[in-house]
Amino acid sequence: MTLKTPPGTTDQRIESLLALLADNPTIVISGSRIADEIGVSRSAVWRWVKRLRELGVRVKGESGAGYHLESVPDILSAAMLRRGLRGSLFSHHIHHFLKTDSTNRVAFDLAHAGAPEGTLVLAEEQTAGKGRAGRRWHSERAAGIYATLLLRPRLSPVQAPLLTLLAGLSVRAAVEAQAGVAPDLKWPNDLLLGGRKLGGILTEMHAEPNIIRFVIIGIGLNVNQSKFPPDLAAIATSLHSATGRKHSRLELLMRLLRQFESDYNRFLREGPAWVVDSFQSVSSFAQGKRVRVSDGREEYTGTTAGLTAEGQLQVRREDGRTVAVLSGDVTEAS
Ligand code: BTN
Repeated sequence: MTLKTPPGTTDQRIESLLALLADNPTIVISGSRIADEIGVSRSAVWRWVKRLRELGVRVKGESGAGYHLESVPDILSAAMLRRGLRGSLFSHHIHHFLKTDSTNRVAFDLAHAGAPEGTLVLAEEQTAGKGRAGRRWHSERAAGIYATLLLRPRLSPVQAPLLTLLAGLSVRAAVEAQAGVAPDLKWPNDLLLGGRKLGGILTEMHAEPNIIRFVIIGIGLNVNQSKFPPDLAAIATSLHSATGRKHSRLELLMRLLRQFESDYNRFLREGPAWVVDSFQSVSSFAQGKRVRVSDGREEYTGTTAGLTAEGQLQVRREDGRTVAVLSGDVTEAS
């Protein structure tokens, strides 16, 4: 089956322009040679160079004199990822957008149309990035990682929430390896640094009673933002703010995808016990933390008491009962 490229996917020819410049980093390439090689007009080349510059790619030169790259571009382009991820599950079906509403929305539509396991949807910018509980995910252009992975695991739907925990662990490991700081994990889907939100996972699923048809795992990670809108300024952070330097989104994403693939295979091979154990060992929220829980029906406070084998958070309530939280918001109680 052939799947239609979703509308708005990065033009194959911008990808070719980027690849041409990246392959010849020290050479000035004339606008007319680029136009010939890619098969477009010189004015289209000029427009795309402008677009790439808006995304922070440092292209030096002018249409008359020719162009070259001043530094390796930090764009999550499909061509560069395919190259860097050769052989990996996520290297075969990559959809990259300069701008889209939500990579989860795109991945969901692709999944319904039959896209295979390993499909990866990326955006430089989202206009309606989705967070949990109907919240928005702030998605500044070319500053963060906005990625959705499509999986078709042969698992029971009750195991799907474990994939959120697993994704959190993979992102945490990739961030630590790349930036030298290890985010805390707040059950079920938050990555925190210094108590502020660095990233989040939004897992959505299509399932029959006993079998998952597909799961999409949306990952939002604040990488190079230097400031946030006023409503987020006190609660969000980025790797740039936390470490004082910029980080390559491309390298971080490649690390993250390799890490996720290896963790996912382990989960399919060995089952979920290690996911639950690992989450408990790195999350300060799993055990002994006073929290406020809002599960949609009621709000209560209590102290966390580890995860169940299915990955639910146990909370010892103030009335002495211990309950397992299926889904809901958990915040640190003062
Ligand atoms: C949360 O913490 O509430 C989850 C945030 C998930 C955001 C990511 S960004 C990429 C993907 N596309 C979306 O629309 N949302 C997720």
